[in-house]
Amino acid sequence: MLFYTLAAIALLAGARSSTLAANAAARAPRHVEERHHGYEKISPKVVIVSMFSPEAEVWYSQSLNSSIGDLLADNITVHGLSPLYPYVHCNERGEVCQLTMGESEINAATSMAAFVFSGLFDLTKTYFLLAGIAGVNPKLGTLGSVALSKYSVQVALQYEFDAREMPANFTTGYLPYGAYAPDEYPSIIYGTEVMELNENLRDVAAGLAQRAELADSVMSADYRARYATSQAYEAATTKPSVIKCDSATSDVYYSGTLLSEAFENTTMLWTNQSTVTYCMSAQEDSAILEVLVRAAACKLVDFSRAIAMRTGSDFDRPPPSVGAFENLRIIDQNGFDIAIQNLYLAGVEIVEGILAGWDAKFHKGIAPINYIGDIIGTLGGEPDFGSGSLFDGLGFSAKANGEIGLTKRKAPLGRKGRRAGGWK
Ligand SMILES: *[C@@H]1O[C@H](CO)[C@@H](O)[C@H](O)[C@H]1NC(C)=O
Ligand SMILES: *[C@@H]1O[C@H](CO)[C@@H](O)[C@H](O)[C@H]1NC(C)=O
Ligand SMILES: *[C@@H]1O[C@H](CO)[C@@H](O)[C@H](O)[C@H]1NC(C)=O
Ligand SMILES: *[C@@H]1O[C@H](CO)[C@@H](O)[C@H](O)[C@H]1NC(C)=O
Ligand SMILES: *[C@@H]1O[C@H](CO)[C@@H](O)[C@H](O)[C@H]1NC(C)=O
Repeated sequence: MLFYTLAAIALLAGARSSTLAANAAARAPRHVEERHHGYEKISPKVVIVSMFSPEAEVWYSQSLNSSIGDLLADNITVHGLSPLYPYVHCNERGEVCQLTMGESEINAATSMAAFVFSGLFDLTKTYFLLAGIAGVNPKLGTLGSVALSKYSVQVALQYEFDAREMPANFTTGYLPYGAYAPDEYPSIIYGTEVMELNENLRDVAAGLAQRAELADSVMSADYRARYATSQAYEAATTKPSVIKCDSATSDVYYSGTLLSEAFENTTMLWTNQSTVTYCMSAQEDSAILEVLVRAAACKLVDFSRAIAMRTGSDFDRPPPSVGAFENLRIIDQNGFDIAIQNLYLAGVEIVEGILAGWDAKFHKGIAPINYIGDIIGTLGGEPDFGSGSLFDGLGFSAKANGEIGLTKRKAPLGRKGRRAGGWK
């Protein structure tokens, strides 16, 4: 009897799911185009990378009014994308595509890897426009600012003590791996700490973005005016504009003056720069760029075609008269809407600029003059930051290098004759 019942339920369930399957199949040709190896591959000129819905939707609704046209003309199922965002969307001609990662580092790396290694697209000449909103550093920008980065730094890839338990001479509870003080360069390197992008392309993209008339609002102007009492925050009090400065990636959505300053220091130290360049805090860029580095190492993408753009939706730290908690959770800074709008307004100038200049300029690429790639020299050349290429400047090659992680990477552990401690 029990068996019979279970079998009947199974049958019913089977019937139900096959009805669903039939419905899905009937809908499929209109809504989802499944592509398989052997199809002519789409080779987009630009791929727009969003992190979550609001950043994607502004493109879907606004691009109809641009030369991009309908970004929802072709919805392509790619296995391994986020269950929340399972399609790559492309315009009619397949020239511009867009996909949404899902938020934070794990979603971003997984979704991007699924996309670039799917084999469904030819991405060898594609420009990648990372386009998300972010926390903005009031020393360098403001609500609605559009930042184009040269460096992306995975700032929280460190040891962390609760600040109440840190040594009295520390300025932050974060301590670089293998280091004994917060201002020491990490001696244990995972490989994703710092990504450096093509500065020439960054500058070209900034020039295009500057054509945009950026959105601003009276309400965001009200909040940014509160920063006027501090000289250091002058940039926060201006109207939003296009700025060139660096982006931080952290799963932890840190907020407040001390953590933000600690990660300013981290960015400056790890990129071997002498001024504060950290201006945007977000949760995905380094993860996406690491995927592009790996894909570039096997010639599936061209890393010199990556652009990292972020727009300021809220300040990473409060104005002088406001507490950190109030800044983050209580007061509406009113930056979200203009940040989303500016993502599109600046972004569409970049995309249209690339399309319009394709034959003359962008098809062959914008040659970098700076080092590009990660901290271990995967793509060749000597990084102008960090402790040097692990590949003798020649870049990674599976054949030539074997398994460096098992050999060379161990070297820093013996530094100063002390063990680094912990589990590394
Ligand atoms: C693509 O998906 C969107 C919803 O996400 C839908 O509005 C649109 O009609 C779809 N396009 C096609 C060609 O089916
Ligand atoms: C479309 O673009 C034109 C010209 O830039 C602008 O005047 C108009 O408001 C836009 N329409 C929509 C719906 O965005
Ligand atoms: C900071 O404090 C730690 C732990 O108390 C100590 O080992 C270290 O030498 C100190 N560093 C400096 C630069 O004083
Ligand atoms: C950042 O570095 C400066 C200079 O070394 C130091 O004075 C400051 O305390 C550091 N800030 C934090 C939060 O670690
Ligand atoms: C970057 O700075 C660290 C010290 O903070 C130094 O050890 C390293 O050699 C520097 N790298 C380059 C490429 O200048």
